[in-house]
Amino acid sequence: MKISVVGTGYVGLVTGTCFAETGVTVTCVDIDKDKVQDLRQGIIPIYEPGLEPMVKNNVDKNRLFFTTSLQESLKDTDAVFIAVGTPPDEDGSADLQYVLDVAREVGEHMENYMVVVTKSTVPIGTAEKVRKTLKEALDKRGVNIDFDVASNPEFLKEGDAIDDFLKPDRIVIGTDSAKAEDILSRLYKPFVLNGHPVISMDIPSAELTKYAANSMLATKISFMNDIANLCELVGADVNSVRRGIGSDSRIGNKFIYAGTGYGGSCFPKDVKALINTSDKNNHSLDILKAVESVNERQKTTLVNKLMYHFNNDLKGKKIALWGLSFKPHTDDMREAPALSIIEKLRAEGAEITGYDPVAMEESKRRIGDSIQYARDQYEALVDADALLLVTEWPEFRTPNYNVMKKLMKNHLIMDGRNIYELSEMKNQGFIYYSIGRKA
Ligand code: UGA
Repeated sequence: MKISVVGTGYVGLVTGTCFAETGVTVTCVDIDKDKVQDLRQGIIPIYEPGLEPMVKNNVDKNRLFFTTSLQESLKDTDAVFIAVGTPPDEDGSADLQYVLDVAREVGEHMENYMVVVTKSTVPIGTAEKVRKTLKEALDKRGVNIDFDVASNPEFLKEGDAIDDFLKPDRIVIGTDSAKAEDILSRLYKPFVLNGHPVISMDIPSAELTKYAANSMLATKISFMNDIANLCELVGADVNSVRRGIGSDSRIGNKFIYAGTGYGGSCFPKDVKALINTSDKNNHSLDILKAVESVNERQKTTLVNKLMYHFNNDLKGKKIALWGLSFKPHTDDMREAPALSIIEKLRAEGAEITGYDPVAMEESKRRIGDSIQYARDQYEALVDADALLLVTEWPEFRTPNYNVMKKLMKNHLIMDGRNIYELSEMKNQGFIYYSIGRKA
């Protein structure tokens, strides 16, 4: 089989590379010449464990190609996956310009039947817009070539993307054509041999499934964060509550960890977009509005605790931040709680030194030298009045407490991810605040 994947961002690159791994001939298309040049040599623009060697391997085996020409990629292709960005508009709805540009260009150049698949997270109704845009381009050419559209949302997690793609919990395919369903089922067959299902449905349901999945996960997190806030007021421990409820298989023990709020390029954007879709349909998704506002509040909960500790005066206080990315194993800082924390700390006049195992360059790109950067996690602690643990990177889990105490001016830890044991902190003599646990 032969496919094209348009957009070599996170989703496109992982999708193209994993399909190539199964022997499919894949051409990835991007408008960025430099990026394409790099990718041809196996240099990848993102940090994703395991992806680089896989790209190199498939390029070497002549089944993964990169080009700036969508037209060139379309020759004899069975399916075109659209995986370009859908940045949020000011009102929170996704901007479909890039998706529809691809649809138009496909219509301008296609010569054979193909299924055009939306892979980016797109609002309900987008596949129909893709169909209409493509058809208009064909009509302009005065040709009548058969094609289908489909929605095939992805459920990859950054940092685990390869594994999630190769061993998916499920594949969702939304289409109204048996031919398109057959092509997509054949493409995905190697990944679902271990019993995980392909779930076929109509197009709007597939489009909504993606938003509903992310919104449900975000809801779990905000719910636990708010329960954690209550725990602090009534003297309960959110970890015990989590274990207590998570052992009920109807609730499940995943995605119920309290923390400094969810971030990243997906949950915040998708929750907003679903609220927006709902509002446009004269339905108020109140539950998601609450999820969003709880999350906004949660992102600065560590700073509030710090203010409380220092009697509302953070002026000139030296604060160390461990972790800048929105979660471990990625350099992604989009909507990262660290950004809200830094903004609030700076507004209060604190001096910040940050350290992150991989996101330092990304941080410099985003916020420049508005904070200082340390070469390692301990250097960040020199003369610090407090340590704020923002991202639970593995190397922060068992630090050398003696070294920490020697370096820090104040032995104060604000743990935004509950990674340290209360008893250990007490034994080590730290003043310790965490989320939803007794201080
Ligand atoms: C998320 C979904 O998990 C994927 O299934 C989906 O495909 C993806 O969005 C997407 O739409 O593209 P991702 O954004 O990579 O993936 O990150 P997650 O691992 O889901 O974490 C999201 C946020 O939730 C992080 O900030 C994390 O720290 C937070 N989180 C997660 C918690 O605060 N508590 C938890 O128990 C779990």
